This record gives sequence, structure tokens and C-alpha cells, in this order.
Amino acid sequence: RTVYLNGEFLPENEARLSIFDRGFLFGDGIYEVTAVLEGRLIDSASHMARLERCAREIDVPLPVSTDEIVAIEKRLIEENGLVEGMVYLQLTRGAEDRNFLFSEDIKPTLVLFTQAKTLVTAPIKGLSVKTVPDQRWARRDIKSVCLLPQVIAKRIAKAEGCDEAWMIEDGFVTEGASSTAYIVTADNRIVTRGNSHKTLPGCTRLAALALAAEQGMTLEERPFTLEEALNAREACLTSASNFVAPITRIDGNAVGSGEPGPVVKRLRELYLERAR
Ligand code: PDD
Repeated sequence: RTVYLNGEFLPENEARLSIFDRGFLFGDGIYEVTAVLEGRLIDSASHMARLERCAREIDVPLPVSTDEIVAIEKRLIEENGLVEGMVYLQLTRGAEDRNFLFSEDIKPTLVLFTQAKTLVTAPIKGLSVKTVPDQRWARRDIKSVCLLPQVIAKRIAKAEGCDEAWMIEDGFVTEGASSTAYIVTADNRIVTRGNSHKTLPGCTRLAALALAAEQGMTLEERPFTLEEALNAREACLTSASNFVAPITRIDGNAVGSGEPGPVVKRLRELYLERAR
């Protein structure tokens, strides 16, 4: 694979980073994952907007413009012959001798690489989720590389044979370990949390909700409890790595009929039609 590191396109085994990089020492950095379908970037503009916002929030300057980043992503897709999968981007504050405080002339580190992955599998399979306590910090709207709580959550989910973890705080579902969480009520309302510091504002969420609204589907942006989720008719998640995916089991309990339902199936189709 060809990867990108600070202005250079290199074979992956020639890319070298300092052990003093603050992304490594402090988790002082942010990231983006953008899906690629048929060689094209999906929801690229919203990923770039979120990257700019997060970079501003942690006060790390983008070393190149977002237009240049998109050009880098396209070149990596081309050089690596990527048809389906994702582009990963990481921006850290940079490298210098370890100190909590950093100097004014520190140079950010920008890394991008591609990953081949099957994103659209047919027929659609219902995913299972395991609930875990949300043990993250208070600024989950920043796509920080400090992912230890999510790594632990996903390991617990995997140990129980589940595909994703749903994180619970004060009885409410905040979001998945790497996805946005939704339920569909008995009267066919699609319920998902509104954006706040409590969750990452998903790019897939933004696009999926716009499509749902366009189609006249009923949306309710509010927190929902685990109890509500256990009694929901349908459930799903959205993320760059799964688009819109039905959830059919929560902590071993069937959601609704236990099969992917019509509202989520429709939302997935709408999203994929637009992506293709
Ligand atoms: N995760 N919530 C969290 C905590 C996430 O990590 C993600 C994405 C999402 C969905 O955001 P989007 O629709 O923009 O992908 C929600 C990526 C895929 C990851 O960490 O690999």
C-alpha cells in the first residue's frame, strides 16, 4: 500500500513516525474515517467539515487545506486500486520531547492510509449489540484518538458474541462504540439523540436523517433509554464503516420481530442509492 505522511506518498513500510509524537504519548490528536464505494469517497464534505471543526477545537492547525486532503485521499484510492473500503486520516499535534505543554512552533503530523473492506453485503444481516457503561470523557463531539473506552467496550461485546457495543449513561443510550444509535417506535418514528457534547455528530447520521426527512419519514431527535430500546419495533446504527445497518438483538433480546424491519431497510436502501 501507498500511504501519506506529512507531504509524502510512501510505501507503508517506509513511513516512519517519531516515538515522541504526541498522538502516541498523549492521545493528542483526532481522526476521520471516510467510506469508499466504487472508488468514490462517501460524505466527503461532511467529514472534512468535522475534521476542520475538531482541529479548531483542539487548536491543531491543518497543515494542508481540506481540498488538498481530498486530493490526497483520491490519489491514495487511485494508487492502491481501492474499490470498496475506507480512507483513514489522523492529525496529531506533532512530535517533540515529552512535556504536557507544547511549544509554539510544533509541526502537526498528518497521516492517511486506505483499508480495503466489504461494506455492502447482501442480504442484509441484523447486528447484535451488547450494552456497556459509557466511560468516556465529556467532549465526545471531538473525534479524538483516545479510544481506550471504545476498545474495552468492543472487546466486551465481542466476548458475548455481539457485533457492536451500545454505551449507556444514566439509563440512556448515548451511542455505539463506533456508530450512532437509533430505534424505531411502534408508531414508526425514527428516534436518535440530537447532537451535543455527549456524542460524535455522525456524518452518516447527517445524510441519513436528511434522506429520511425528504421521504416524509418521521424523525424525533431526543435521547432514548435502554428500556425503550428493548421495547422498540426496530433499531439500527449508522457509521462510515456500516452505513445504515439493522440491529436485531440487544443484550440477547430480539428487537421487534428479531428480523430487520421495513423502516430500517428503507433507510438503508435510500442511503445506498444515494451513495451509489
Ligand atoms: N466511527 N459515534 C462514534 C463514537 C464513532 O466513532 C463513529 C464513527 C460514529 C459515526 O460517525 P460517522 O457516521 O461519521 O462515521 C458515531 C468510525 C467509523 C471509527 O471510529 O472507525
